Amino acid sequence: MYDRAAKGERAVLVQTIRAGDSDAAARLAEFAELAASAGAGVVAQLFARVDTPNARFLLGTGKVDELREVKLANDADLILVNDILSPVQERNLEKYCECRVIGRTGLILDIFALRARSHEGKLQVELAQLKHMATRAVRGWSGLDSQRGGSIGLRGPGETKLELDRRLLRGRIQQLQERLDKVAQQREQTRRSRLRNAVPLVSLVGYTNAGKSTLFNRLSGASVYAADQLFATLDPTLRRIDGLPCGPFVLADTVGFIRDLPHDLVAAFQSTLAETRDADLLLHVVDASDPERDQRMGDVAAVLAEIGASDVPQVLVYNKIDSIDGALPRRDDIDGGLQPRVWLSAMQGLGLDLLQEAVVEQLGRDRVRTELHLAPSQGRLRARLYEAGAVRTEAAADDGGWLLALDAPRSRLQALFGLADGDGSYLRAALAATVPEARVD
Ligand code: GTP
Repeated sequence: MYDRAAKGERAVLVQTIRAGDSDAAARLAEFAELAASAGAGVVAQLFARVDTPNARFLLGTGKVDELREVKLANDADLILVNDILSPVQERNLEKYCECRVIGRTGLILDIFALRARSHEGKLQVELAQLKHMATRAVRGWSGLDSQRGGSIGLRGPGETKLELDRRLLRGRIQQLQERLDKVAQQREQTRRSRLRNAVPLVSLVGYTNAGKSTLFNRLSGASVYAADQLFATLDPTLRRIDGLPCGPFVLADTVGFIRDLPHDLVAAFQSTLAETRDADLLLHVVDASDPERDQRMGDVAAVLAEIGASDVPQVLVYNKIDSIDGALPRRDDIDGGLQPRVWLSAMQGLGLDLLQEAVVEQLGRDRVRTELHLAPSQGRLRARLYEAGAVRTEAAADDGGWLLALDAPRSRLQALFGLADGDGSYLRAALAATVPEARVD
């Protein structure tokens, strides 16, 4: 159904350069990796200055001529443009260069489609693809129609087909959305039961190809597909880890991040990314041997901010030290120990003990352990505390209320302080009165 870059297609890559861009070469290198991940063979690469974007082609007309020639000379059958192409620009380029043209969003969607494995992942990708297509079908056709100046014989059937396409698309999008909502509800239930059982969640995050799955396998003894491909892991994979002094926790491997992740895609993966937002601790995996690593860490931070996960505590994991001359496993914390950094090699299993120590420390940090007396009228707060997995034991109080023994990460209790119904302020006051040293606010 969707325009897939078929295996072995010969692609010309176009990297746009806008005023002030300084890292076009690095962007092009990354785009070439994306193209390879989609199975395309790159036969030529072009830079194109786009100081004032051309409405018809995005690129200037001279550049479009050059592109057409390069495409012909290399016998290419696909043009990939590392930029956001409007549907009209995509079509105009296709007509002029006589081959398929795909922009950055389309290419990433294509890779996502290849990689999605779980039911939910597949639904999410299909929904994102259809939404992407829907804008193309609607705006793309009408844009072309107006340019054709109403050619007789073309417009009528085109419009009818368009109406039909639109109806089909709309129906399918709605159907997918409903199914996804159902899956999301199931996921929410699993998440709640995990919270109820008070098992902390540790999520691996990082730029695509940083080595998250390899590390996941090392830490969990599982065998998750790790490949030198972008977005090999699209769906979160969860494993329970036992045997460490911090008690059991759930480890989640999540989708790799990437710079300029198209906005629609972030939205489409909201429920998958919830594993990141709800985590008690993030292991931010960085490819330490990557010359672009600082830039990529910034890109990951930007996505984390976008999905509301900036405040989750992090351990920075500098992976792949085996690819750096003379590098040894080590730990060097910054911010007075608040931000542990561990240098290791997931592939060679070096430095894993240092990481485990850091995880144990972080999960044990800032836990609030205290008793709380709730009045009979505070059943709602009690329910919330259970939902947050904060209650260790409970006994009936003389006044008909409850005596709860709480044990939970401070951040989880703090989330309850935000409640608008007054329960939150009660919790804050009650905890501050019982254990000022718990530093609950
Ligand atoms: P996405 O699924 O794209 O997000 O990737 P990922 O972060 O899960 O990376 P993955 O574990 O799939 O590893 C990517 C590539 O890096 C694979 O070829 C791994 O073998 C390689 N790799 C992972 N860890 C190390 C390491 O410690 N050293 C070296 N040299 N390579 C590693």
